[in-house]
Amino acid sequence: MQLEGKRILLTGAAGGIGALLAEALTQRGARVALVDRNAEALESIRKGLGGKAEAIPADLLDTPRLGEVVERARRALGGLDLLINVAGLLSFRPLDEEDPVVLERIIRLNLTTPLLLTREALPHLRESGGRVVNIGSTFGAIGFAWFAAYSASKFGLRGFSEALRRELEGSGVGVTYIAPRAVRTKLNTGAIYRMSEAVGMNMDEPEWVVEQIVEAIDRDAKDRYLGFPEKLFVRINALLPRLVDLALRKQNRVMEPFAREV
Ligand SMILES: NC(=O)c1ccc[n+]([C@@H]2O[C@H](COP(=O)([O-])OP(=O)(O)OC[C@H]3O[C@@H](n4cnc5c(N)ncnc54)[C@H](OP(=O)(O)O)[C@@H]3O)[C@@H](O)[C@H]2O)c1
Repeated sequence: MQLEGKRILLTGAAGGIGALLAEALTQRGARVALVDRNAEALESIRKGLGGKAEAIPADLLDTPRLGEVVERARRALGGLDLLINVAGLLSFRPLDEEDPVVLERIIRLNLTTPLLLTREALPHLRESGGRVVNIGSTFGAIGFAWFAAYSASKFGLRGFSEALRRELEGSGVGVTYIAPRAVRTKLNTGAIYRMSEAVGMNMDEPEWVVEQIVEAIDRDAKDRYLGFPEKLFVRINALLPRLVDLALRKQNRVMEPFAREV
């Protein structure tokens, strides 16, 4: 998709990946409706984008308001060509120590919210021949110990993206699913950074991830798994999951004390 002149609803626009993505998209001539829950941060990002963006502060867990968010973006931009679902939450804890409220929020923000926003945006995307872009994770194809709720949410988002892509075939609306490996943003807590160091987990800079997202949109890609060897492990896990069980066994035990940090 040519980004010049495109009208984009972007969630998570005040986050590590979202704010840089907003900048990259406006630099390419797109106009962006920035959605996030921190109104002040959003406003300062909007100001930095030189009149090519609108700020729509909203709590994306406020389900009844999601239709209004899409409608505000559509009115502000005069239509919609792209919905990019970036907003996300994670937790790194043993499941039996997980706060049930946090668990439910992760599933709702990472999975239910993109489903509902897409449902609301679809009539406008059909009109423009647009695209839905969902930001998943390597953890959406390889279930990771101590990230049960997050892995479940991203597996769900991947399934949603695949089903919708097949459902919309021939409609003129495309679906792109992008799965980064770990990225250096504030989504990751101190315990996650310490754990990553201990197990040698690869972490990408958000600038590089944003370049990959823009390139995937440019090429109307169906899906993208970012980083080697993670993209290979995704394929091995799909074919030979018992092999990956074995490969991760030792690492899981090294990760455990970090997941139990309070
Ligand atoms: N960072 C990684 O390692 C990594 C790896 C793979 C995939 N991803 C995915 O990439 C996406 C972006 O992550 P990121 O690294 O940019 O994280 P981030 O910096 O934490 O950005 C996420 C944004 O979503 C916002 N948000 C959280 N709850 C919200 C709510 N209820 N309503 C509206 N906005 C809300 C956050 O606001 P607050 O700051 O107020 O919470 C934040 O601005 C996520 O879907 C994540 O799962 C990230």
